[in-house]
Amino acid sequence: MKTPIFLDVETAYDRWAASYDAYDNPMVYAATAALERHLERFAGQSVAELGCGTGRNLAALRRASAARLWGCDLSAGMLEKAKHAAPGATLVQHDITLPLRVETGHFDAALVSLAYEHVAKLDEPAAELARIVRPGGFALILEIHPFMTLSGVGAHFPDGDHDIHMPSYPHSFSDWLTAFRHAGLTVSGCTEWRGRDFGPDAPSKLRERYADTPFLVEWSVSR
Ligand SMILES: C[S@@+](CC[C@H](N)C(=O)[O-])C[C@H]1O[C@@H](n2cnc3c(N)ncnc32)[C@H](O)[C@@H]1O
Repeated sequence: MKTPIFLDVETAYDRWAASYDAYDNPMVYAATAALERHLERFAGQSVAELGCGTGRNLAALRRASAARLWGCDLSAGMLEKAKHAAPGATLVQHDITLPLRVETGHFDAALVSLAYEHVAKLDEPAAELARIVRPGGFALILEIHPFMTLSGVGAHFPDGDHDIHMPSYPHSFSDWLTAFRHAGLTVSGCTEWRGRDFGPDAPSKLRERYADTPFLVEWSVSR
């Protein structure tokens, strides 16, 4: 039995960076499968990923022919990995709860994958997300479903004899809808992914324990 340790988000991800991409994580599997369905939309687009982590999504966007890539993250350790995963992408260390040093309407599209879980309030980050996307552009948001967060599931990882936990906040559907409305974002799609919605190669935990439980929420929004 590993001893649980609770760390702040930046310290936790600096520590997780070395093993994040190798760790068999059903939530990352789910977000990857959900993004896969949308990759074509990013072709030829300039794209920002907020909370880009190790750059695995930036690399996927590059393979999908995104035109220009920009990513930010709180964790220097995660960004160091992203430098190698997504050479040529512009990467900056930045807290997404604070105003971004990016011109208004600078990007065609934006992605946020599994980062808003760590943000207590959605309003400011959603307003910044909307601000940096041009009118007519779009954003895709993939996040742990609030049913999971409310049942005590949040980002965590094994580290030696420890199990590292960090702050994780549930965002109800009214929180999301209010934040989008205040930010001037229009919802064009919402999917609640359950374990059985993923393919046969999905981790068994996802297909069995969470077969009927909304596990991941996917929002498509436009400016
Ligand atoms: C679960 S990882 C997801 C990384 C990547 N988007 C992916 O899908 O693999 C969450 C990332 O969000 C970043 N993050 C959390 N809170 C943040 C904040 N306030 N500002 C910027 N990045 C943040 C973490 O450092 C971490 O890299």
